[in-house]
Amino acid sequence: MNLLRRKSVTQLQADALTDHRLKRALGATNLTTLGIGAIIGTGIFVLTGTVAAQNAGPAVILSFVLAGVASIFAALCYSEFASLVPMAGSAYTYGYATLGELFAWIIGWDLILEYALGAVTVSIGWSGYVVSFLRDIGIHIPAQLSAARGTLLTLADGTQVTAIFNLPAVIIIAVVTFLLVIGIRESATVNNVIVFVKVAVVLLFIFGAAHAINSANWHPFMPPSTGVRGHFGWSGVMQGAGIVFFAYIGFDAVSTAAQEAKNPQRDMPIGIIGSLLICTVLYIAVSAVATGIVPYLQLDVPDPIAVAADHAGVGWMSSAIKLGAIAGLSSVILVMLLGQSRIFWTMADDGLLPRFVSRVHPKFRTPWITTIVTGIFVAFFAALFTVREAGSLVSIGTLLAFVIVSIGVLVLRLREPELPRTFKTPAVWFVAPLGALSALYLMISLPWRTWERLIIWFVIGMLVYFFYGVRRSKLARPPRT
Ligand code: ALA
Repeated sequence: MNLLRRKSVTQLQADALTDHRLKRALGATNLTTLGIGAIIGTGIFVLTGTVAAQNAGPAVILSFVLAGVASIFAALCYSEFASLVPMAGSAYTYGYATLGELFAWIIGWDLILEYALGAVTVSIGWSGYVVSFLRDIGIHIPAQLSAARGTLLTLADGTQVTAIFNLPAVIIIAVVTFLLVIGIRESATVNNVIVFVKVAVVLLFIFGAAHAINSANWHPFMPPSTGVRGHFGWSGVMQGAGIVFFAYIGFDAVSTAAQEAKNPQRDMPIGIIGSLLICTVLYIAVSAVATGIVPYLQLDVPDPIAVAADHAGVGWMSSAIKLGAIAGLSSVILVMLLGQSRIFWTMADDGLLPRFVSRVHPKFRTPWITTIVTGIFVAFFAALFTVREAGSLVSIGTLLAFVIVSIGVLVLRLREPELPRTFKTPAVWFVAPLGALSALYLMISLPWRTWERLIIWFVIGMLVYFFYGVRRSKLARPPRT
């Protein structure tokens, strides 16, 4: 058993050029909007307030800068790989080419935490926003159908009911899955519209509420530590960075669309880095405006940006912000499901998952079986479970992928320095180690119970690999003569 058997980069590149099973429909703009679609979501609309009130005060702005810088290091490494090995498997395939099959499996298994669990978490958040928005306009979704199975809910009249399942979460996943099955072009178009709406809402907030900034709210900029680690002071800013990192997750999903890009060598880096830079600037501006308008201790609410708009005397904006959040979360779900289905598709194609699921739809040219399987799996969990603290599991999974990709770039530079790289990570011996170290640092800042869950997840993953993938792998079979 050779657990570290590798795929050759040259072979992968040849495959990427000749494999036209998926439709190549995406250019640089669509790839950038896919990235923005995945990035702007719960993070900016919710966590900004929580971190300002509990960890960093107005210095949440610094937390956003730090998490943004860590993400940019990783984005540069992803860009080098995505233009060199433009395959839908993303980090999983990069791992296969550099560190070997066992590591590839570990990354693939890990990415389920980022994409599938990410979609579960975000669709539950989406359901909460939609139910509240509909209530505002007089439409009531029965409480029994809007929360995880078994949740005890108290109605307005004081009676208690037990929830059956989360219907809105299932509906959004079904709609997005349908869209992803019928075509990548259609999915990208819908994503573009959503991204337009959410970026417009974010800009509306930045420019429409900025007049109400009172610079006194920024003093003290970094409230002194209370003595408890992570509670204000520098340790608060750092822990805040670990938490708001969630807001940046998603730029890497662009790389899973590599086989659907018209010119991946050129456009992958544009999509990955461009989307991240745009969102970083928006995040810093939003957190500066929100903490400038409202004293930070008052931002500990589920809808801090809407509360800031209210404070600024532009209360009419808060419905627009809710709508922006709903739109925002829909495209996060879309890109997460897109990423997950492409990774499963590649893993199945490699034989590490059952191969029949890697079929491509003859008309739509999408990986329709893995898309539907992913949709069912995600809808099942979103319908029945609460995902308390799942956000940190999503973050730790993503960060681990960042660590491995950053190390992988260096390994490949050493092992195959002569490969023609259309995009080279600048100052790679500085950027890649810092990418790995900063991701590792953010991982360490997450609670121990998140690590415990990560370990349990990997034990399950190892069992699946040793009972299935190790023997079924394409590389385990002798080449046909
Ligand atoms: N970055 C995405 C969000 O904030 C996951 O919802």
